[in-house]
Amino acid sequence: MGNCDNRAAFASVFPDAAQDAHGFVQSVVTLGGTALFCLDSLDREPDPKHSGVLCADRLGWLDAQLAACAASHRVVVAHHPPAAVGMAGPDRLRLRNGDALLDLLRAHGVDLLICGHLHRPILATLKGQSTAILGSTAFDVALATNSDAITPIFDVPPLYHVLLDTDAGPVLHCEQVPMA
Ligand SMILES: [Fe+2]
Repeated sequence: MGNCDNRAAFASVFPDAAQDAHGFVQSVVTLGGTALFCLDSLDREPDPKHSGVLCADRLGWLDAQLAACAASHRVVVAHHPPAAVGMAGPDRLRLRNGDALLDLLRAHGVDLLICGHLHRPILATLKGQSTAILGSTAFDVALATNSDAITPIFDVPPLYHVLLDTDAGPVLHCEQVPMA
């Protein structure tokens, strides 16, 4: 779940999708030796927001799931990045309590955090946490390190990503889709 999602609409289309005990769309999927922890960072109360948040209930769920996980590798997926990435405009829209997530991931030795939301591929180590921010299948956002502009670029090939579970650990591939 991210800023463009609606939990009720999602549940009506995907009635079998897992929810946690508090109704957040969070689940664990195990692929070979890698466990994926999929988070719900939607922040829409009381008003629609483009920023994200992980409340105590959602972080508590992640803490318990990570503690109980016996997989060789752990990958956590959240729509909103947890820290600023040097672009003032998009950085305003990040996870509002990102430090809490990063502290939790570090405490559990999580291999990789995967995020989206910024519409451009970015690799980072955020407070010690290896992080991949993925590109978009829709449009790109121009790099702007000296302004707060958020400038969409539409004439670029869409990107999708493939996560492989290898003997050495999770490997993330980025693939461009040729434009028609
Ligand atoms: Fe988003």
